[in-house]
Amino acid sequence: MLEKNPYKYNGESLVVDEDSKNTKTKNVYLESYGCAMNFSDSEIVMSILSNIGYQSTGNINHADLILINTCSIREKAELTVRKRLEKFNRIKRTNKNLKVGVLGCMAERLKHKFLDEEKIVDMVVGPDAYKDLPNLIKEINNGDDAVNVILSKDETYGDINPVRINSNGVNAFVSITRGCDNMCTFCVVPFTRGRERSRDPQSIVNELNELADQGYKEVTLLGQNVDSYLWYGGGLKKDFQKASEIQKASSINFSKLLEMCALSNPKMRIRFSTSNPQDMSIEVIKVMSRHKNICNHIHLPVQSGSNTILKAMNRQHTRKEYLDLINSIYKIMPDCSISHDMITGFPNESENDHKLTLSLMEKVKYSFGYMFKYSERPGTLAAKKLNDNVDEKIKSRRLSEIVELQQKHSLFRNKQKINQVVEILIEKESKKSANHWAGRNQQNSVVIIPKEEYNIGDFVNVKINDCTSATLIGKGLGYSENN
Ligand code: SAH
Ligand code: F3S
Repeated sequence: MLEKNPYKYNGESLVVDEDSKNTKTKNVYLESYGCAMNFSDSEIVMSILSNIGYQSTGNINHADLILINTCSIREKAELTVRKRLEKFNRIKRTNKNLKVGVLGCMAERLKHKFLDEEKIVDMVVGPDAYKDLPNLIKEINNGDDAVNVILSKDETYGDINPVRINSNGVNAFVSITRGCDNMCTFCVVPFTRGRERSRDPQSIVNELNELADQGYKEVTLLGQNVDSYLWYGGGLKKDFQKASEIQKASSINFSKLLEMCALSNPKMRIRFSTSNPQDMSIEVIKVMSRHKNICNHIHLPVQSGSNTILKAMNRQHTRKEYLDLINSIYKIMPDCSISHDMITGFPNESENDHKLTLSLMEKVKYSFGYMFKYSERPGTLAAKKLNDNVDEKIKSRRLSEIVELQQKHSLFRNKQKINQVVEILIEKESKKSANHWAGRNQQNSVVIIPKEEYNIGDFVNVKINDCTSATLIGKGLGYSENN
């Protein structure tokens, strides 16, 4: 049976209750890679571990247990993890009792094979199996290897109160869906994170309320595919058609959830990520425009501007449908910013396909974007059916062309803000100057201001007077009405 949790989170690290100081505690060093969802999952893992007597340490040499939450999205991400495992191996040589566990997408992708490939790994735990960690840790502490990579139909961790790791006390992630059913041909996520399922809206709103009580000012609703959110009492999204008429009639989709969240805490800024264009509805855009606290920014990955490539990627929309969606967004929310993900060098991508990507970017003039060279992932349809046949040099050249164009557009968008007054939420000290704060406006641009009398967590009206392609630079004019 689990003991009463002796640990409390003080905003920076887990601290032990005075009464429980005699209890023998163990240190866990947890490192996370990849998407926001992984970082959010690590907070769930920390919560589960704190219940069995582990406290977080930032010093790897003090660890009894090292956990690495991994990403499989591109080969490079996996290589980074392998490099870290080499480092952990060196530490393990001097500390024979040290245990090492691999969590997340690589754990799910490689399963038992991980134990053979990397001798230092004691435990392999997939993204839906974290509640089993107490048992698995008991096994490895008894000297056995432990693996749980079972993907779940209903695990959403909705009942777990995440321990906010490295939090600034202002921004928090809240997971709302898990998994993805889209099967884009290049993507490993449906294999590593399983089928799509949504979390009970009431548990989401409760988490928002608790965050508001603790002083948090901004939440990002997270999912691989948030617009596909659908709650009908639990279960996989693909089984919705089998639900009863009553369940269907009372179901909650993403636009309804977004509105519930906005209304529950009108002062809390709300963001969401990621939107797949094929699942984004006009109703979501309308809800965004109705509520001031939903930030005017949409991350809308397109991956390519060519219909041929979009089809080969199994993206369920054409270039025209995507551009129509962008037009609808601008019509309803003229000051909405849009960002993207783009893949260059997908199998058979011709020079003309690449030009279509550049011309799509020219039409949209995204505020910012994340651009990647195609990386073949084992097990995906693209890996099985298509040749990774775009020369590495051509991939690199195309990537630098889209990156350069994006920088031009980011600068163009930022210049439009000069002389305007924008509301920012201060999040941290500027990386470049101890005299300046860094915050973000609703459109998700980083804004730098002199510290003056302001503090982290303040909403401030800022007059923008300069910019680079990455940052807006301004001066606070005073607290905004949102404070
Ligand atoms: N759910 C999101 C994507 C999640 S993965 C969506 O709707 O598109 C984040 C990004 O990684 C993707 O948008 C894609 O641009 C990139 N990515 C995914 N698989 C990749 C691969 N095999 N090679 C290169 N980039 C990839
Ligand atoms: Fe991956 Fe496509 Fe889903 S990019 S996460 S399969 S929407």
